[in-house]
Amino acid sequence: MGKVAWITGASSGIGEALVHEFVARGATVIASSNDLDELERVKAECGSKSMMVHCVMFDLADTSEINKTVEQIVSKFGRIDFLLNIGGISQRARIDETPLWLDRKIFEINYFGTIAFTKAVLPFLVRQQSGHILATSSITGRFGFPLRSAYSASKQALHGFFETLYLENKKNNIKVSVIIPGRVRTAISFHALDSKGKEHGKLDDGQAKGILPKQAAEIIIRGIRRNRREILVGKNELIMLYIRRICPWLFFRIADKIKSM
Ligand SMILES: NC(=O)c1ccc[n+]([C@@H]2O[C@H](COP(=O)([O-])OP(=O)(O)OC[C@H]3O[C@@H](n4cnc5c(N)ncnc54)[C@H](OP(=O)(O)O)[C@@H]3O)[C@@H](O)[C@H]2O)c1
Repeated sequence: MGKVAWITGASSGIGEALVHEFVARGATVIASSNDLDELERVKAECGSKSMMVHCVMFDLADTSEINKTVEQIVSKFGRIDFLLNIGGISQRARIDETPLWLDRKIFEINYFGTIAFTKAVLPFLVRQQSGHILATSSITGRFGFPLRSAYSASKQALHGFFETLYLENKKNNIKVSVIIPGRVRTAISFHALDSKGKEHGKLDDGQAKGILPKQAAEIIIRGIRRNRREILVGKNELIMLYIRRICPWLFFRIADKIKSM
């Protein structure tokens, strides 16, 4: 491949699996998250390819320094071919028990952090007249779901932003895709925030039935190759997307009965 890929959420789950898939294909990977020790672990686990992984820590909830960070990386590596916005955080709290600061925190990480990073990189891709930007939504970024009000809303917002990004930048030869995972067996439910802003701390049943992160990463790579606008990642649970679109009355009858999405 010989390309440069910058991956957020690279310390765990889907992002971590993507680091392995990209280095296996010969790419240089900039691996980012808010935990340098975990990034270094992922790098070390790339074994003989670990030299191709460069760890850059930043907090998606505080992107005040992001322009400087992006400038440093571009001057070091010369270009960015893939920007994979994978980092994010989930939620397990009812609307009536969720304080507004928590809604804002989830938006800060999932939406504002992602778009701030994308906006910082975009001018370089425009200058290159090439590049592929990906954002990670969720099937609950296509419909509401109990205990996920801010999470679902933050992911739905990403669709509006990244569809616009695509339409404005087709002329600059920039590709844009939105990844829509169903259930992937990662730590996402473990780190999901409860009504106090504390970690939910357990692997939900639905999550446990999900596909493996490696399978998710392979599906995403295939979607990138085929330049899909939307990359659906999962198994049977993806049927909820079609039910919501084609048969909304059925969706509203059953969605609150599903234990965990
Ligand atoms: N797994 C699923 O079933 C599923 C379903 C739908 C959508 N998704 C989406 O897929 C993406 C990846 O999630 P995952 O399943 O791989 O979960 P995960 O294993 O919990 O990984 C989440 C990643 O996001 C990073 N992150 C979280 N908060 C951050 C912050 N403030 N600053 C920087 N990085 C931060 C974490 O890094 P640090 O903690 O090291 O900072 C970690 O690398 C997320 O956007 C998630 O919403 C997942």
